Amino acid sequence: MNKASMEKIVSLCRRRGFIFPSSEIYGGLSSCWDYGPLGVELKNNVKKAWWQAVVQQRDDIVGLDTSIFMHPRVWEASGHLKGFSDPMADCMKCKMRWRTDDLDGDVCPSCDGELTEPRQFNLMFKTFMGPVEDEASVVYLRPETAQGIFVNFQNVVTTTRKKLPFGIAQIGKSFRNEITTGNFIFRSREFEQMEIEYFVKPGTDKEWFDYWLKERMNWYIGLGIKEENLKLRPHGDAELAHYARCCSDINYNFPMGLAELEGVANRGDFDLVQHAKFSGKSLTYLDEDSKEHIVPYIIEPSAGVDRSVLAFLCDAYDEEKDKDEIRVVLHLHPALAPYKATILPLSRKEHLAKVAKELYAEVRQCWMTGYDDTQSIGRRYRRQDEIGTPYCITVDFQSLDDKQVTIRERDSMKQIRIPISELNSTLAAKLGGEPFEVLPPGGSHGFGF
Ligand code: GAP
Repeated sequence: MNKASMEKIVSLCRRRGFIFPSSEIYGGLSSCWDYGPLGVELKNNVKKAWWQAVVQQRDDIVGLDTSIFMHPRVWEASGHLKGFSDPMADCMKCKMRWRTDDLDGDVCPSCDGELTEPRQFNLMFKTFMGPVEDEASVVYLRPETAQGIFVNFQNVVTTTRKKLPFGIAQIGKSFRNEITTGNFIFRSREFEQMEIEYFVKPGTDKEWFDYWLKERMNWYIGLGIKEENLKLRPHGDAELAHYARCCSDINYNFPMGLAELEGVANRGDFDLVQHAKFSGKSLTYLDEDSKEHIVPYIIEPSAGVDRSVLAFLCDAYDEEKDKDEIRVVLHLHPALAPYKATILPLSRKEHLAKVAKELYAEVRQCWMTGYDDTQSIGRRYRRQDEIGTPYCITVDFQSLDDKQVTIRERDSMKQIRIPISELNSTLAAKLGGEPFEVLPPGGSHGFGF
């Protein structure tokens, strides 16, 4: 098994239309990325799989989609205006800015110039709302989606009548003016988060914290991430965020080393207490057993969409020896694969193309489907392997007579011939139909060849 290097992943993503540098024709914009035709499918599939697992398939979590701009007081209450900062020092010679925790000595690592005293540098992007650019119209681009959930706690409780323990989930963009970016889409200034705020009775928080750590690990494993590439890293007291009672990172073995994929935190009652104080509104929950108003504790599994995409790509990437060649293959879980199937006519001759295109029109009603009629069939198989398409469907001259097609399976490269009339039902059986079933750890994809 060949471990993906970051260069190989970046090159594949660029070459095959997964991810491009933002504003590339202008030379790109530092640490901003655009998802291409295949990348947007993969990213949407990651979000869909998460939403299915945490909202659709459970009865204790509901979804939300809140605005990126929020009342500026939110960020005072949350502690982000004061506490969401990194200590930075500027080089007086070359003007580079450095995070002081990243510095080894007391001079600029780039030019040996003298550094200023460390200053706190807030990571929130600031802009103005409305026609006047003054202090009263300052708003921030949210640095986490979580706050949109906390401020809607009472709205959700009254409209859904959910009882503790219950959760609220949200997927959305967040923005941080990170100083040290890099490692492709791992750390950027504009990114997406998938966050759950799970409200529990105080005293039960420890057991729910453990539950969510396990649940979230299993989600990645069920979607194909190798267990040995995931590692929990509990935070030490000194590195805990200002709101957290305890926290553990789910680290993934990225090409540059183990790094945070998701954080699971016990936020206690910090957020509801703060927002109640700053808004003057009661943010309590009436406990039916004790008839008391309580402030629930919050367990927060917070995942990055882009980091998940990167982890799924790295984990799926493989280079395999096939006769005298090396085939690059993405062993993506079918639920995540951008295309579930691709139609390949053996030739572009009109009578064959007609049948293939009819088939393409039919299959794409059910699944995201590709069509490829350029170059040799061998090269086309390789191209589909490289983008992770689980099934290739080949239409050949014999298909015109016997009304059959060949299905080739990505991982085993085995081929079977089936009647065209059975194609959709065969794919449905192999793909598990929509929505896809996320398998338990250790389960196989169930390719039935
Ligand atoms: N609400 C808690 C929170 O935001 P976090 O650990 O700062 O916690 C959660 O972020 C997740 O969001 C991270 O585990 C990571 O996957 C993702 N994330 C954070 N900053 C990111 C960045 N600059 N670029 C890409 N993903 C990021």
